[in-house]
Amino acid sequence: TNGMITIDPGYKNTGSCESAITFLDGEKGILRYRGYSIEELAEKADFLEVAYLLIFGELPNKVELEKFHADIKEESQVDEEMKKILDGFPKSAHPMGVLSSLTSALIAFNPTTVDVSSEKDMYHAIVRILAKFPVLVAWTLRKKKGLPLDYGDDTLGYVENIHKMMFKKPNQMYCKDDLVIDALDKLLILHADHEQNCSTSTVRIVGSSHAGLFASLSAGISALWGPLHGGANQAVLEMLEAIEKDGGDTKKYMAKAKDKSDPFRLMGFGHRVYKNFDPRAKIIKKAADDVLANLGIDDPILAIAKGLEKEALEDQYFVDRKLYPNVDFYSGIIYRALGIPTEMFTVMFALGRLPGWIAQWREMRLRGEPIGRPRQVYIGANLRPFVEVSKR
Ligand code: SDX
Repeated sequence: TNGMITIDPGYKNTGSCESAITFLDGEKGILRYRGYSIEELAEKADFLEVAYLLIFGELPNKVELEKFHADIKEESQVDEEMKKILDGFPKSAHPMGVLSSLTSALIAFNPTTVDVSSEKDMYHAIVRILAKFPVLVAWTLRKKKGLPLDYGDDTLGYVENIHKMMFKKPNQMYCKDDLVIDALDKLLILHADHEQNCSTSTVRIVGSSHAGLFASLSAGISALWGPLHGGANQAVLEMLEAIEKDGGDTKKYMAKAKDKSDPFRLMGFGHRVYKNFDPRAKIIKKAADDVLANLGIDDPILAIAKGLEKEALEDQYFVDRKLYPNVDFYSGIIYRALGIPTEMFTVMFALGRLPGWIAQWREMRLRGEPIGRPRQVYIGANLRPFVEVSKR
């Protein structure tokens, strides 16, 4: 503290805004979107419905939902010239870097400034990004897999269409697998918003300068990429695969995670807010069991994950620090079972988080929040005279 300024690293004890979108209770492990429990939404709603709820504040009726989907279908064309930007990336490029670049490149092909005072203008910007972002997600996967880009199919549901653009083989009919689409739908709902996490705070602070929605979202994608945040879902699978290669020696990795001199952390564990089980992790863990059983997949990685979780929940170091599995711990196991490459896991997180980012950006602008500009406590050099280079 220095006079008026109190430093709060990582904003652990700072509230950045008032918001009516998502409610978390970290002690009790409660998560609600606009007052609806995540358990009910994951079970009974679909992703597009939840997107509408987060953004506009109410569950849509049948007419509203059908119009929302119809308006999105109208905007699902991505300018052909965007392919030149995609072609500029080497195949080895990380999909998160490709996605954040393509998202900001969309600005070149769409009206950038959103007149937030016009509901109609805001609605069109929202529909445009909800329509085009899934195409960019599918393109990043097709590029990674060396497959030709695919276009959407207006006869399909929102999530079904995304799955089709990602996976339909050029020479095959696309056939919907309800189990796969339900699993994807549930995962996207569970990732849809999470109050003022790192990437959402990024979207808000970039938007607070009145930068456009697409530019703010592109910044959010970059923040999500970090392994301490959304990038953890990729890091979890890499960690589990390393443990499997190491003969499944979970004890060795638990010891590493507790060794202060070792930078290794148990990825997928711990959370800034949840000091209890992350409610999403519970649902995803059960979904992982169901999806793998129904797909007839016996993935040894799931057994390693469960063994690690059991050890951590009984380990004093972890119990003292209230470290529980978070949303990223089991999600990658399902993505892997659905044929999604590990490097694409955080892209799937971004796809799910998109409606939350939009909802938070819209709320911040509609409330006329001031530009985000924190202060500091200066600890550098005092005043000193300039010295000519010949005298240094
Ligand atoms: C997400 O904010 C959100 O809501 C995010 C998210 C969302 O939906 O948007 O929920 C998504 O990002 C989930 C988190 C994914 N990240 C990981 O799984 C990476 C591993 N987890 C950690 O890096 C960490 O737990 C964080 C980043 C999640 C939280 O970090 P904090 O709140 O800054 O906590 P900290 O680093 O200060 O840790 C507190 C203590 C420390 O020990 P001490 O110094 O007190 O002795 O717990 C230890 C840490 O060393 N610790 C861990 C650990 N996480 C914390 N030790 C080993 N393994 C871990 N995973």
